[in-house]
Amino acid sequence: MGYPAIRPRRLRATPALRRLVAETRVHPADLVLPAFVREGIDAPVPIGAMPGVAQHTVASLVDLAHQCVAADIGGIMLFGVPLAKDGRGSGADDPDGILNVATRAVADAVGGELVVMTDLCLDEFTDHGHCGVLDARGRVDNDATLERYAAMALAQARAGSDVLGLSGMMDGQVGHVRAALDADGHTDTVLLAYAAKYTSGLYGPFREAVASSLVGDRAAYQQDPGNAREAIREVELDVAEGADMVMVKPAGPHLDIIRAVAQMSTVPVAAYQISGEYSSIVAAADRGWIDRDRAVDESLIHLKRAGADILLTYFALEWAARNP
Ligand code: PBG
Repeated sequence: MGYPAIRPRRLRATPALRRLVAETRVHPADLVLPAFVREGIDAPVPIGAMPGVAQHTVASLVDLAHQCVAADIGGIMLFGVPLAKDGRGSGADDPDGILNVATRAVADAVGGELVVMTDLCLDEFTDHGHCGVLDARGRVDNDATLERYAAMALAQARAGSDVLGLSGMMDGQVGHVRAALDADGHTDTVLLAYAAKYTSGLYGPFREAVASSLVGDRAAYQQDPGNAREAIREVELDVAEGADMVMVKPAGPHLDIIRAVAQMSTVPVAAYQISGEYSSIVAAADRGWIDRDRAVDESLIHLKRAGADILLTYFALEWAARNP
């Protein structure tokens, strides 16, 4: 008599039914916590634009890594904030540079229990804040930068990093770093290629997190947010060059790209929920405008539903604490 015989609401009626028919689940093992370690401080320094996130000392970073193990999350991604910066980012491949020292400490403490990842990029170490070295005209010199990345890769692998996160968006960086690692005997070091990395205003809080001196933007090497096809090209190239995993970044604004990459890729797909995505949720929740837990949970489930296997998120420990 006009009443519907087919009622999708039946499967939504109780928490138990909803749980049974859930298509997508996040597990702590999917999560990677990005973390910052700063040289020359003796206590953690809060990051104003990222409430709840701090620049760590080596000791507090090791403590954080232990918390990651206890929370059963998948990994930690390390970023270094050096005291001194210069044009070539000398601190990046210095074995005594802050990132390499911290990597050694974390790998010694939790290696084997937690996947230790390191950001492989020069921007935290250069006085001009770009991801590579500059040529005489002030442009980022792709091929000269590859040499710096190779040196950085060796330093990170020797320090005990399991996974190198190639985030600089230089052409040929995956193949170049792979060859340098293999020639030095680091055939087991995993390469995570930030294959589709879009330029974005949402990286803003990260600039404070790493005390970046960048003026301007990275549009000459990171992708135009309006372009989808070139993301596929970047993934194809990186996998052909030997990438073991690929990443899409930022995450939430690029669900269509995550989906497209997940469908074409034969390697694991990561998504990086970046600083501005984190801070947007935190700021709105702090004003009472949105419910923090729900917004966080949704933001992660969306990435998995789109097809990401691995989620880099500053909410990793918070999420794991609520979903043991
Ligand atoms: C490059 C790098 C950046 C981020 C991760 N790796 C900065 C950038 O590309 O501008 C941003 C991460 C974030 O915003 O959370 N070293």
